[in-house]
Amino acid sequence: MLCSNITRNADGALLFAGQSVSALADRYGTPLYLMDEARIRQNCRMYKDAFRLAFGDKALPLYASKACSFKQMYRIMAEEGMGVDCVSCGEIHTAMEAGFPAERIWFHGDGKTDADIRYALDHGIGGFVVDGLEELEALNREAGERGIRQKILLRVTPGIDPHTYEAVNTGRVDVKFGAPIGTGQALEFVRAALNAPNVELEGLHCHVGSMVFDESVFEDTADLMLAFMRELRDKLGYVTGTLDLGGGYGVRYVDSDKQADIPARIAALANHIRKRADEQGLPMPFILMEPGRSIVADAGMTVYTVSAVKRIPGFKNHVIVDGGMVDNPRYCLYRAKYTVLHAVDRGGETAVFDLAGRCCESGDILQPAVSLPADVKRGDRVAVCTTGAYNYSMASNYNRLGRPPVVMLRDGESYTAVRREGFDELTALDV
Ligand code: LLP
Repeated sequence: MLCSNITRNADGALLFAGQSVSALADRYGTPLYLMDEARIRQNCRMYKDAFRLAFGDKALPLYASKACSFKQMYRIMAEEGMGVDCVSCGEIHTAMEAGFPAERIWFHGDGKTDADIRYALDHGIGGFVVDGLEELEALNREAGERGIRQKILLRVTPGIDPHTYEAVNTGRVDVKFGAPIGTGQALEFVRAALNAPNVELEGLHCHVGSMVFDESVFEDTADLMLAFMRELRDKLGYVTGTLDLGGGYGVRYVDSDKQADIPARIAALANHIRKRADEQGLPMPFILMEPGRSIVADAGMTVYTVSAVKRIPGFKNHVIVDGGMVDNPRYCLYRAKYTVLHAVDRGGETAVFDLAGRCCESGDILQPAVSLPADVKRGDRVAVCTTGAYNYSMASNYNRLGRPPVVMLRDGESYTAVRREGFDELTALDV
């Protein structure tokens, strides 16, 4: 199977984290997001252990909470000793409500408003990743008014192509994020931060992309960052204390995807950075990374009930389910691949279907050309695997469909972490 938490019993019934997917669907209804709590914790520990081995105590993984954000997730992150990366006051608010320690939150994003800056300062969040000069100016002003010296990193763009899909390709010089090193703008950005009295420049941040499998991308990025750090020391006398290399390790959505050995990659990266820092005569910086997808993706599965099966002879077959692009827009947006499984597989004949959603547009496809039992019918359950990242967090209410609940699986039991959105919630803001 794709991941060790997906199995079948002797009767061919699909199990997730050891529990019957059909029974969970009966109990909680569909569409249904399931999350394997042990897997989330295991992924956190994988990062924490790899960081400890590779960097000692001079490093911290931050969970990029845009991948999946709700209160229980932040509680788990707090318990696992992770930091978190938030990109909006909504994420910060959720983290704070969950009791997540403010000092371990880093506030990212390229479009922070004055109101956002004030909110984050007033809640004492640990640090800002400042994206540009206007934000720096606004933050310096707001921090000054509060008598605070705010810890910051500056986001710079190293100018690297991580060979991933366009929407998540963020390392190139011409992207909307950060200040490019190549044009000299990053150097001016650092100079401005050093001259801003109410911020404390801790270091630099970069994030070159998501779903990165290319072995050398992080090493190449570190090389560019360390060369820039040396330039900063030589030209401005500034020694970078913290280097945040962003998120991006890829995960397996289908059997043909590579399996990234993340601990091994982190160990190699640490050696690489240490060597390069030595060569440049720079002290080893404190390292931050921001994994999102690789913490939660394989902890998730979405379960649907089949509403209709349409066979169009000579053309194609459709299986239509009770969810769709509303709970998982990733195929529509990125042509993302997914593994689709029937809740009961007795090893009979299969056929190829497009798995389509219930939204009123023909582009509402969860996954084309999937293999399912040839006799699949209304009422059957199907599961889409590896939906823990960027599914619940990207879900919408298109067609006034309520978002599915998130049910956590733990030690053979289950509990609701996010309730199903019902009619009352859908009209709660309507006047
Ligand atoms: N740090 C920064 C600054 C980021 O922009 C991102 C992701 C991450 C960390 C986490 O990257 P990860 O480890 O999850 O790859 N909606 C898209 C993904 C967008 C990623 C945006 N930034 C998708 O569904 O594939």
